[in-house]
Amino acid sequence: MKIAIFGGTGDLGRGLAICFAAAGHDIVVGSRSQERADQAAASLREGYAEGNFIPMENAEAAQAGEMAIVSIPWEGIDQTIPALADALAGKVVVSVVNALKFGKAGAIAVQGAELPGGGPSCAHRIQELAPEAKVVVAYNNLPAAGLQARHNLNADVMVCGKSKSAREAVIELTKDLPGARGLDAGPLANAIVIEGSTALIINLNKRYGGEASLAVTGLENAPERSAATH
Ligand SMILES: NC(=O)c1ccc[n+]([C@@H]2O[C@H](COP(=O)([O-])OP(=O)(O)OC[C@H]3O[C@@H](n4cnc5c(N)ncnc54)[C@H](OP(=O)(O)O)[C@@H]3O)[C@@H](O)[C@H]2O)c1
Repeated sequence: MKIAIFGGTGDLGRGLAICFAAAGHDIVVGSRSQERADQAAASLREGYAEGNFIPMENAEAAQAGEMAIVSIPWEGIDQTIPALADALAGKVVVSVVNALKFGKAGAIAVQGAELPGGGPSCAHRIQELAPEAKVVVAYNNLPAAGLQARHNLNADVMVCGKSKSAREAVIELTKDLPGARGLDAGPLANAIVIEGSTALIINLNKRYGGEASLAVTGLENAPERSAATH
C-alpha cells in the first residue's frame, strides 16, 4: 500500500516509515517543504536501502497516499489539515498526535479548551477539519527510537475510530510493525484517553529508564502480536 506520512521528516514519522517500508509498503514522506522531504527520504534510504521512500510536500502526499498518517506536533493541526481535507476524503487517516505539555513533575496531558478546536482530542479535531476522512487514532504510545531501530516493540496498539472498516484496516496494517498487535478499542471519542496516556509513558521512561509502551493482559480472543522482525 502507498502510505503518506505528514511530518514524515520527524522522529515518529521516520520510525513508522522504516517499519512499514521494511514490510513492503511504499512510503510518501510528507513535509511542509520539498527540500526537507528530499533530505528525509535520502536519509531514510541510507537507513533502509530497500525501501521505497517518495518525498513530497504534504498537499501532494495527501493526493498520492492510499492511506495517510498525521505525524506532526499538536500545535500544527489547525494550520495543516484544512488544506489536505479534500484529498483525504474517503481515505483512512491515522492520527498519532498527542497533546502534551511539560511541568516540573513531568509530562502532562493537555485537555479540554487548551486542545485544538477546544477538544475533546487531537484526533477529533482532525476529523472535524477533514470531515470525509475516516480518522483513526493509533500508534500514539509507540517509541520513535524503537521503531527506527526496528526493535521488537512487544506492544499493543489501541485503535479507535468511528468507522469499523477503518479500524480493521489499521489493525491489519499494525501486523507490519515488529512485535505489535492492534486492538479495537472502540469509537474516536476515546482518543483522548490514548493520547493522554502518552504523558504517563514519558514519565515512566524518565523515572525507570527504557522505552515503555502499552501492553494489555487478560484478553482471551485477541490476536497474537506479530513476529518480532520483518
Ligand atoms: N517521538 C515519539 O516517540 C512519539 C511517539 C508517539 C507519538 N508521537 C506523536 O507523533 C507526532 C510527531 O512526533 P515527532 O516526535 O516526530 O515530532 P517532531 O519531530 O517534532 O515533528 C514531526 C514533523 O512535523 C512537522 N512540523 C513541525 N511543526 C509543525 C507545524 N507547526 N505544523 C505542521 N507540521 C509541523 C515537521 O516536519 P516538516 O518541517 O518537514 O514539515 C517535523 O519534522 C507528535 O504529535 C507526537 O506527540 C511521538
